[in-house]
Amino acid sequence: MTELVCGKMLQRLKILHRLKILQSLLLERCLPALPVMPASDRMPFSKANAVPIMKIPKRIQSLVDEGLIDAVLRQLMSGKEATVYVVRCGEEVRCAKVYKEANQRSFHQNAAYQEGRKVKNSRQARAMEKGTRYGRQVQEEAWQNAEVDALFRLAAAGVKVPRPYICFDGVLLMDLVTDADGNAAPRLNDVELDQTLALRFHAQMLDQVILMLGAGIIHGDLSEYNILVDEEGLVIIDLPQAVDAAGNTNAGPMLERDVDNLTAFFATFAPRLAGAQYGKEIWALYQAGQLQPGVVLTGRVAVDHRTPNVGAVMHEMRLAREEHAEQARLRYEEDH
Ligand SMILES: Nc1ncnc2c1ncn2[C@@H]1O[C@H](COP(=O)(O)OP(=O)(O)OP(=O)(O)O)[C@@H](O)[C@H]1O
Ligand SMILES: [Mg+2]
Repeated sequence: MTELVCGKMLQRLKILHRLKILQSLLLERCLPALPVMPASDRMPFSKANAVPIMKIPKRIQSLVDEGLIDAVLRQLMSGKEATVYVVRCGEEVRCAKVYKEANQRSFHQNAAYQEGRKVKNSRQARAMEKGTRYGRQVQEEAWQNAEVDALFRLAAAGVKVPRPYICFDGVLLMDLVTDADGNAAPRLNDVELDQTLALRFHAQMLDQVILMLGAGIIHGDLSEYNILVDEEGLVIIDLPQAVDAAGNTNAGPMLERDVDNLTAFFATFAPRLAGAQYGKEIWALYQAGQLQPGVVLTGRVAVDHRTPNVGAVMHEMRLAREEHAEQARLRYEEDH
């Protein structure tokens, strides 16, 4: 009897597993029309070198078993949150980002980034709040899927990001961004810039940030270390901490920090950028519903001399506190 039940459960798990792969293949089919990196940029990575030169890491084995990856060519980088490998999938050379376990990761799982992210149902939301074992599992899956979700949304919005394929068993499979010679592209901080190029790249990045906001996403960790330089320009990477622009109360300061980081970096080559307030300006336009691609930015924001209405702010805060207490009471009643 137990054997029969276990057999049936195993069968259901297998079906679910296959459905997940089918779903990602379907998404992949829908993507070719998207304005991500052209195929010519993706191919040249030394097809001749594309021979397996390393043992399959344990965390990648399940993707090999599923036929998503054929061989692992080499380790590219080991960062704070993940280890990145160059892999071969059929004829293509791609990139596999293996997320580290929760206890080895750094600050990005911080609640400030998660706020506003949607979970499937209220049971999952409650479990996450309570920090139960199931809740931690849901949270881990949500964290692992956040980057692939953001990549799909951004690619669809025309932002230059590596084309994503799937996130499976904690491994994100995406295109390898390459330079003109077909090698893994350098990070922006490793590239020599002059004033003209710095100004051009800065303007390009502001356009990208605006497109991202249009898709409802703030990067949350945007800097010269999370931007690659391919033949055509800049490609944004590393988005597991992506912030929901509309649902996160920290969205404004995070957007400002992202943009200020970029401006400060480019200002070292183009001093006229120093002190510009593009982040504040973009956020103010976004909040006013006036942000659109191609908008002319000045980098200056008018100072608001109006006296704040302290009474109204206190009233809003009291309402928010009462609403929070009411939600907590309803949850308690549901649980007991
Ligand atoms: N799609 C890609 N194509 C080429 N190189 C990539 C790609 N994705 C990541 N890399 C390389 O791997 C490095 C680490 O990737 P990523 O920034 O996504 O992970 P991380 O763990 O957050 O790293 P870090 O702590 O350095 O920020 C990048 O700096 C880049 O050099
Ligand atoms: Mg990074």
